[in-house]
Amino acid sequence: MVSRVIPVEPFDLVIFGGTGDLARRKIFPGLYRRFLAGQMTADSRIIGAARAELSDDDFRAMVATSIAEYVSESRQDSAMIAEFLTRLHYVAIDATGAGGWAALKDLMRDDVVRAFYFSVAPSLFGDIALRLNQHGVADAKSRIVVEKPFGRDLASAQALNATLALHFDETQIYRIDHYLGKETVQNLMAVRFANILFEPLWKAEYVDHVQITVAETVGVEGRGAYYDKSGAMRDMVQNHMMQLLCLIAMEPPYHFDPNAVRDEKLKVIRALDPVRPQDIVRGQYLAGGGQGDYLAHSENPHSTTESYIALRVHVSNWRWKGTPFYLRTGKRLRARASEIAITFREPPHSIFDDAQGWRENVLVIRLQPDEGMHLKVMIKEPGPGGMRLMQVPLDMSFADALGDDHDDVPDAYERLIMDVIRGNQTLFMRGDEVEAAWAWTDPIIEGWTARGDKPQSYDPGTSGPEDALMLMHRDGRRWREIK
Ligand code: NDP
Ligand code: BG6
Repeated sequence: MVSRVIPVEPFDLVIFGGTGDLARRKIFPGLYRRFLAGQMTADSRIIGAARAELSDDDFRAMVATSIAEYVSESRQDSAMIAEFLTRLHYVAIDATGAGGWAALKDLMRDDVVRAFYFSVAPSLFGDIALRLNQHGVADAKSRIVVEKPFGRDLASAQALNATLALHFDETQIYRIDHYLGKETVQNLMAVRFANILFEPLWKAEYVDHVQITVAETVGVEGRGAYYDKSGAMRDMVQNHMMQLLCLIAMEPPYHFDPNAVRDEKLKVIRALDPVRPQDIVRGQYLAGGGQGDYLAHSENPHSTTESYIALRVHVSNWRWKGTPFYLRTGKRLRARASEIAITFREPPHSIFDDAQGWRENVLVIRLQPDEGMHLKVMIKEPGPGGMRLMQVPLDMSFADALGDDHDDVPDAYERLIMDVIRGNQTLFMRGDEVEAAWAWTDPIIEGWTARGDKPQSYDPGTSGPEDALMLMHRDGRRWREIK
C-alpha cells in the first residue's frame, strides 16, 4: 500500500532545456504523474524554456505527446492531462543571451516556491545561474536543480561549484543523481537504520564482501559523442555507483537530515583507497569491430573509452578494513540488472560438515527490475534423509508487497523534483561530495591513460570481459550471475 500523498507547496518550476530529451522522457511525464497523484496543487505552474520559438500551445502539444509516449496507458486520463496542460507555459530564452529573461521574470510569482531545473548542457549552467540573478528572476529562496555530468574531473567540478556559488548558496543547489531517487536505494537506508537486525553484522568482522552491479542491455546508441568523452567510470562509477557504495558503507547519521546524511557519505568517499591497476578491468563491446560495435557510435575510430568497468575497492576505516567492495557496470550486457549483494562470512564454528551443504548468507538488494530484497538463509532440507542443509530466500518483493499500488510508486525523477519543492536536500549531492568523488576518480583515469591501457573486447549479451571474472576468482570469489 502506497502511503497517502501529501500535496507540496504551490510552485513555479522553470525547466531550462524544456524541449530536450530528458525533459520529454522523464521530467514532464514525471510531473504529470505527480499531478495525477494529487501531489501538485492546482495553483502550481511549469514553465518550459529553450531557444526554439514556441507558443504556449505548441509547448503544451509537445508535452502532451511526451505524456502519450512515456506514461503507462493505465495512467493516461484525458481530462487530467488536459487539466495538467493548462499549468504549462513557455518562454523562448537563449541561456547565453539577453532575450526572454524579462518575460520570464514577469511570469514568476512572489508567493510560491521558485525552482529552476537546468536540463541543458553543463556548459550553460554558469550562464543561466548568472542571468537568473542579473535579471532578478531568482530570489534568495529560489532553488536550482543541476543535472549530471557535474564536471569531468576535480578541476572542472571545482570550477563549476565556484561559478554556482557566485550566484546561489549551497542550500539552494540541488545536484541530481537520479539513483538516489530510486525506491530501493532509499529503502537501503530504511533497512539499515530502522532495524536492529542488520546493523550489528554490518562490518568487516561479519561481511565477507560486497558486490555492486549495474548492468545494462542498452548500448551507447545516439549518445556516442557524449559517452566517448566519458566512459563507464565517469558516466556511472563516479556518481551513481559511488552513491550506492556510500549508502552501504556509511556510519549511521545522527538524524535523517540532509547534512547529517551527506556528512557520513563524504567520510566514506574520503576513506576510499586508491585503486591498484591490477584491481581494474575495463571493457568495450566488440572492441575489435563487428556489427553494432562500440566504435560504430564513436567519433574516434581508435577510441579506448570503456563501456564496461569492474573495480575492487577498499574502504579504509575501522568498519570495513578487510572487506572488499567489487563494483561493475557495463553496457550491452546479458540483462538489465542492478543489485547490491552483501555476502556474510562463515559462522565462527560450524557444527555441520561441508557435505551437509552449508552456504553463506547473502542479502540481495535488487534495484531494478523486480525491485525488492531477499536474504538467503540456511534451513534444514525438509523431509527424511537426515540433517541436510539448503539455502532458501526470505523474499520481500516490492511488487508483491505493494500489490496494485506498485504502479503508484514515483519514479526517481518525479520523487526528486518533489523533494526540491519541499526543500529537502537529503537525496542530492553536496558540492564537497562531488569534489571528493572526483578526487578519488581522477588518479584512476590518469593511471590507465598514462599506462596506455586498452579496454578488453567483450561480446554483447555476455556478462563482460573475461578478466573481470579473474578479478574475483583470484580472491576465491565469484560474481553473481547477471539475470
Ligand atoms: P538535449 O540536447 O536533448 O536538449 C537540450 C535542451 O537545451 C533543448 O531543450 C535545447 O533547446 C536547450 N538549449 C540548448 N542550448 C540552449 C541555449 N543556449 N539556451 C537555452 N536552451 C538551450 O539534452 P538532454 O535533454 O539529453 O540533456 C539535458 C541535460 O541533462 C544534460 O546536462 C545531460 O547531460 C543531462 N542528462 C540527460 C539524460 C538523458 O537521458 N537525456 C540523463 C542524465 C543526464 P533549443 O535547442 O531549442 O535551445
Ligand atoms: C545515466 C547514464 O546517468 O544513467 C546512462 O548517463 C545510464 O549512461 C543511465 O544508461 C542508467 O540509469 P537507469 O536509471 O536506467 O539505471
